[in-house]
Amino acid sequence: MKNIVILISGGGSNMAAIVRASQRDGWRKSPGAQVAAVISNRPDAGGLALAREQMIATEVVDHKQFGSREAFDAELATVIDRHDPALVVLAGFMRILTPGFVERYQGRMVNIHPSLLPAFPGLHTHQRAIDAGCRFAGATVHQVTAELDFGPIVDQAVVPVLPGDTADSLAARVLTQEHLIYPRAIAALLQGQ
Ligand code: GAR
Repeated sequence: MKNIVILISGGGSNMAAIVRASQRDGWRKSPGAQVAAVISNRPDAGGLALAREQMIATEVVDHKQFGSREAFDAELATVIDRHDPALVVLAGFMRILTPGFVERYQGRMVNIHPSLLPAFPGLHTHQRAIDAGCRFAGATVHQVTAELDFGPIVDQAVVPVLPGDTADSLAARVLTQEHLIYPRAIAALLQGQ
């Protein structure tokens, strides 16, 4: 069985979409995979309760308890590796990762970012897309490399930016698409492994 380990920092709606897809589409049979653990860097992340409801193991590695990024990433890797991951899935995991951590999971770690990369890496993507006058926005699933919000693109979804959109209304439209493309990309990656 290929273990998927999902890292979150907040509400965990992408994580929940992945768990739902894994159950609905029978990932245990094909591609022979399961969501083995959900790990948060925030003890109060809403997604932790969602995962527990689904009887998925949860762990917290609180970044505030560590003096450096390296120390936090080292402990995070220890906790991740306990679950023997075939794939590490960043789903709203709002931490900058150290090069050593990225290297450790090279080729088996993916992220979803709420923009059409390489446009708008970083924060406040929706407001920046509106301010730039973009007619289209979207989301990108990509392999994680040392550069923030960069790396080979696995899948993308496009949505229109509508007149009168706010960052919140655009974010909600994009998030709906994230919930479709992230499970699909993960299934495809695991199938190919
Ligand atoms: C999602 O929109 C995700 O793309 C974004 O955080 C949100 C998490 O929502 N990630 C990033 O901005 C990473 N750079 P969720 O916790 O409900 O899945």
